[in-house]
Amino acid sequence: MPTNKLEAFLTGELEQLARDGTKKGAESVIVEVLAATDTKGPRYRLRGEGERAFLRMNANGYLGLSQRAETVQAEEVAVRRYGTGPQAVRFISGTFAPHVALEERLAAFHGRDGCMIFSSAYAAVMGILPSLIGEQTIVVSDELNHNCIINAMRLSRPAERVIVPHLDVAAVERALDEAAGRCRRAIVVTDGVFSMRGDSAPLSDLAGLVRERDRGFAEGCLLVVDDSHGVGVLGETGRGTEEYEGVQADLLVATLGKAFGVNGGYVVGSAAVIEYLREKSPFYVYSNPITPGEAAAAKAAIDLLDGPVGRALLERVRALTARFEAGLSALGFETIAGPHPVVPLMVRDTGRTRALVQHLRDHDVLATGLTDPVVPRGDEEIRFQISAEHTEADIDQALAALQTFGAGR
Ligand SMILES: Cc1ncc(COP(=O)(O)O)c(C=O)c1O
Repeated sequence: MPTNKLEAFLTGELEQLARDGTKKGAESVIVEVLAATDTKGPRYRLRGEGERAFLRMNANGYLGLSQRAETVQAEEVAVRRYGTGPQAVRFISGTFAPHVALEERLAAFHGRDGCMIFSSAYAAVMGILPSLIGEQTIVVSDELNHNCIINAMRLSRPAERVIVPHLDVAAVERALDEAAGRCRRAIVVTDGVFSMRGDSAPLSDLAGLVRERDRGFAEGCLLVVDDSHGVGVLGETGRGTEEYEGVQADLLVATLGKAFGVNGGYVVGSAAVIEYLREKSPFYVYSNPITPGEAAAAKAAIDLLDGPVGRALLERVRALTARFEAGLSALGFETIAGPHPVVPLMVRDTGRTRALVQHLRDHDVLATGLTDPVVPRGDEEIRFQISAEHTEADIDQALAALQTFGAGR
């Protein structure tokens, strides 16, 4: 059987991944979420782990909106009214009132004229970049950009792709200067917050540069930002890296599946660009949108964030992040401190990273170890993600587990 030959080959590839230590392996299956108490945030039961209750410090729900009554109720009301799925793509008959209400809310939230939603932020990036990158476009991308940007560039056929060192604005400038006059269009694309380290792009410098260099390109020079980890948590009111840096990108992509606690992705920009993308972007034209229920829940999440509840949650997650960062430093661990609730503990060794992840799990704490090739060799780390639904006692539980491992072991 031909598939047997393929299976033998693929099994060999999997064995190689295991030998390289890069196989992700069996997934932990969450079978129950235990409600928060006065002193503890929610706990998670995992298949095969009996009654053990885990503290989850590897989820992107920075504000804890996924379990809130307001978001759950909004989804319930919409699912009863419209059903569980859209049953068509948007332009056929898959556009429901909650989709449109969400797009209007997101455009207003980000101060733009246009917004379109996608089934995920990954799909949004894959959907918009190849539609905007033509044969006479230069695209300039940070070396640590998310996998969706890397693959979107692979799907595109630009005149030139330039990968610049992490956060290196001078390298972006050189690339644009070399292409000016030769290429008709330029696109600078970057993550807002970089998910592995919690650091953020110098958007103010990049936006200024793109404005200045615009005249060198007949079809303009654009800044496209994927701020999936920043929107909802970074900046005074949670509008993300743009707010943190005090500028706007030409196109901003983000997810509904992290701080907003739901699922899906979107892009905001000018009405004309969004109208073009609605016609041209294959991941939008030929693929179902999120469900009406998800759209309603996401709008409820934005309404919450954009009010007093959101302010309080932002304040809380910042205080917990600062507590955790201070605790790590006091224990002698290396970290990259910053305002974002992604807190990396730099281990800088693959074996030790694995041992520490296992040690934390043995102490009922879930955190993610990142090793080569996800991060460069030497940058191996444990990524902790703090949420407003954690408590001070939760943070201290994780620190206590780290203390028993020791910074110098
Ligand atoms: C920058 C960036 N873009 C996109 C995604 C994927 O988001 P989604 O799950 O909505 O596809 C992530 C998630 O890790 C991300 O960090």
